[in-house]
Amino acid sequence: MKPAYNIWDLREQARRRLPKAIFEFIERGSEDDVLIGRNVEALRRIRFSPRTLRDVSSRDIGIELFGRKRATPLIIGPTGTADLLCHRGESAIASAAAGAGVPFTLATSSTTSMEDIARIATAGMWMQMYLWERRDLSWQVVERAAALGAEALVLTVDTPMWPNREFNKHNGMANPIRPNLRLARSFLARPGWMMRVLARYMLAGGLPRFANYPAEIGGTVSGPVNRVTNSASVCWDDVAELKRRWPNRLLLKGILNREDALLAAEHGVDGIIVSNHGGRTFDASPASIEVLAEIVDAVGQDLTVIFDSGVRRGSDVLKAMAIGAHAVIVGRATLYGAAAGGAAGAARALEILAEEISTSMAMVGVTSLAQLDRSYLRADTVPGL
Ligand SMILES: Cc1cc2nc3c(=O)[nH]c(=O)nc-3n(C[C@H](O)[C@H](O)[C@H](O)COP(=O)(O)O)c2cc1C
Repeated sequence: MKPAYNIWDLREQARRRLPKAIFEFIERGSEDDVLIGRNVEALRRIRFSPRTLRDVSSRDIGIELFGRKRATPLIIGPTGTADLLCHRGESAIASAAAGAGVPFTLATSSTTSMEDIARIATAGMWMQMYLWERRDLSWQVVERAAALGAEALVLTVDTPMWPNREFNKHNGMANPIRPNLRLARSFLARPGWMMRVLARYMLAGGLPRFANYPAEIGGTVSGPVNRVTNSASVCWDDVAELKRRWPNRLLLKGILNREDALLAAEHGVDGIIVSNHGGRTFDASPASIEVLAEIVDAVGQDLTVIFDSGVRRGSDVLKAMAIGAHAVIVGRATLYGAAAGGAAGAARALEILAEEISTSMAMVGVTSLAQLDRSYLRADTVPGL
């Protein structure tokens, strides 16, 4: 792997190695593609109020989450495409997560079976769900994950329909994926990727298939769109039903206001993920960090509040935690790493973030993340304060 000193270096390496259609699939959002930049910018605008002349020579970047001590405040978010970035990318990221003591969330639309991931993700496997129109099929996935002892079920609630990702259509990467000239051109422009990734799958029998869908749904990545999104009829009754069926921690991912956060608490879930899906689903949503404070104020005492969308620096993690988040999910950071260098690249992404978290703690004047609160931030730079 080439040297990478920050997440942006890994992103640039990913851009150079991946076919444009695949890089843009992980990188871009929907419609006018405003929200991804807004997520990053809104985090950047927040400024610390660093404390000084404290002994910060020994720092602990660990947290306590759901009754377990964790090595870092990071969790790997669900992303269904990692196997296209490098050969067996999902396993690569899961093993990097295990090495760093970080829980790994497997997407419903993943191409590695949850049984395989459960063996690799030794620091915790979380399972992400979309609920289909045929709820009975979704319950089959839930039962399979429960039988494996998945620590948490993450119901993604921000995708009632397939998002309007026009750039995918321009790239020939529309959903469902169908072979076409534009896609072929994009692949041919990256012969290294074709050899390292595509050829290996083809020699082993073909492109990765969805590995966690019930047999009745089928497994090809070129099937109907509604396999990979929630049914548009999913509602709070389904949350109540999941609560009855799921024995372990239940989290809702994609909460963006206090009203839904309060409803989540009423429905007895264990936690919520304040997320706009990394800016991928609805371009007119707020940056997640812009709504974090109001949500923490509403439910932060009752629920575990996890933050995601736009984290590229360790200092971003500290900002979210100072506002009141209990942990932070990363999506693209480890995808860039996997594209740049497989498991070693994903591990490098986590290492960079861990080092930056530790350095930022020293700069801000804390030795444990539990010491962070809003007094470490310039209130005039924090949205909602
Ligand atoms: C390529 C890609 C695929 C994703 N797939 C899913 C998914 O299947 N389910 C889901 O809940 N979130 C999905 N996400 C969103 C991530 O879990 C996470 O919320 C987001 O990436 C966080 O923002 P960040 O990439 O800026 O860190 C995906 C994100 C990316 C980049």
